[in-house]
Amino acid sequence: MNINMTIELLKKGSKADRNLLGVRGEKVGIGRGDLLFLDYVISRMPDPLGAVVEFGTLHGVTTSFLAICAQMRGTYVDTVDIEDKVYSHANKQYAYYHIGDLLTSVYIDMCKIIETSNCFLFVDNGNKIKETHMYAKYCGQGCHMVIHDWDDEIGIEDVRDVLNENGFKLCYEDISIALFSSCRCFVKEGV
Ligand SMILES: C[S@@+](CC[C@H](N)C(=O)[O-])C[C@H]1O[C@@H](n2cnc3c(N)ncnc32)[C@H](O)[C@@H]1O
Repeated sequence: MNINMTIELLKKGSKADRNLLGVRGEKVGIGRGDLLFLDYVISRMPDPLGAVVEFGTLHGVTTSFLAICAQMRGTYVDTVDIEDKVYSHANKQYAYYHIGDLLTSVYIDMCKIIETSNCFLFVDNGNKIKETHMYAKYCGQGCHMVIHDWDDEIGIEDVRDVLNENGFKLCYEDISIALFSSCRCFVKEGV
């Protein structure tokens, strides 16, 4: 693969050349730009960092990256999926894996976790619009909610009102665009 092809793939964000922690292909749900953006956002969150939470585990590769970030910052990662598809037992050393439906069975448990102040929440499950509507009001102050597949599975028209009503403001959009990330970050500053 030549360098121009590689750069073109990077520009396609999460829909192209996925690779993370030595795993390549569709087992990884995020692109290189998304990875850089997640790291950028978590790095800028103040201490103490509350919980790190992922909605939509898939095979747990991104989870392992988030778990390392969480451990570096003195916390842990909680991740949820409706099915257990975790790639390797190695992943399971790093995170709390919850198996259940975010829209029903694990809703109350997840609301309790995201109430933590200064929580990082990665919204990456099957129904991002519904999930944002259901969970936004339970997020604690300082929550950094990063929504994946922006302008593909979800856009501002779908969630503007619920995010405004619950004190979320769009942050770092210029950085996300510069990194070719398909994530957007909303920070809960106050209602
Ligand atoms: C796009 S993948 C997640 C990708 C992962 N975050 C990554 O970066 O590798 C979406 C996941 O959400 C899960 N999912 C879909 N609907 C769900 C629901 N209602 N509750 C919990 N998980 C769900 C799917 O099983 C799928 O594994």
